[in-house]
Amino acid sequence: MTQSMSINLPKIIGHRGAAAYAPENTLEGIATAAEMQAPWVELDVKLTKDNIPILFHDETLERTTNGSGAVAETDYADIQNLEAGSWFGESFAGIKIPTLEEALDVILTHNLGLNLEIKPCHGREKDTAEVTLDVLTQIWDDPTNILISSFQHVSLETAVEVAQDWPRGLLIGGQTPDDQPENWIELADYLDVKTLNIGSNILSADFAMDIIDEGYPLIVYTVNDPMDAKRFQQMGVDTIITDAPDIIAENLINTH
Ligand code: G3P
Ligand code: MG
Repeated sequence: MTQSMSINLPKIIGHRGAAAYAPENTLEGIATAAEMQAPWVELDVKLTKDNIPILFHDETLERTTNGSGAVAETDYADIQNLEAGSWFGESFAGIKIPTLEEALDVILTHNLGLNLEIKPCHGREKDTAEVTLDVLTQIWDDPTNILISSFQHVSLETAVEVAQDWPRGLLIGGQTPDDQPENWIELADYLDVKTLNIGSNILSADFAMDIIDEGYPLIVYTVNDPMDAKRFQQMGVDTIITDAPDIIAENLINTH
């Protein structure tokens, strides 16, 4: 793999699969995104207690499964037995929490691109990046349709150490534009990221312009209202992460 191969970002990425239509971070969610012609999916990865990378968003199991307690304190053998679909809808009853490996298999089968968000349990920022990239780089072979992102600087720093040539994105979130970090240019440079992935609440037109002026592709999350999507596209946003990839695709000014 060479540095000269640049990332081929899509206009739309399905958030946690297609989270408006299927349980987040599941194989069914990935398949739903593919059915809706979403070109890429965004998924969250973290480690079980015994270091198996799984797709999961929260620190704890309660919201999206029939289990309880911290993911970081639960072995995969127990995670594997949990049910992760009923909370979303009875028609999804019986769905399991996938391993990263299982998810990559489905993503590749559907020929999707992937924004893999490293979402470590607290204190596991380095391990999660190491294990995730170890699994990922053994299975994935196209550096133009993958983006490794994280809010955690240690995870991105580790990604630079263990898989420098795999494209990274720096996630920046917040409640309002006042939360824009002053040092984002230095951070992006230090972490050697290819993209800036910015929360919709903090992305002002000025911030967007500054990011574009610095030469970074700009990704915004999570945008489900078509009017907002158009507004962000007019600001120069390259890629929209959405729970409803079908609705955003229908309404964007330019989807190519
Ligand atoms: O990667 C974009 C977005 O997923 C970040 O926030 O909490 O939905 O993982 P969250
Ligand atoms: Mg995420």
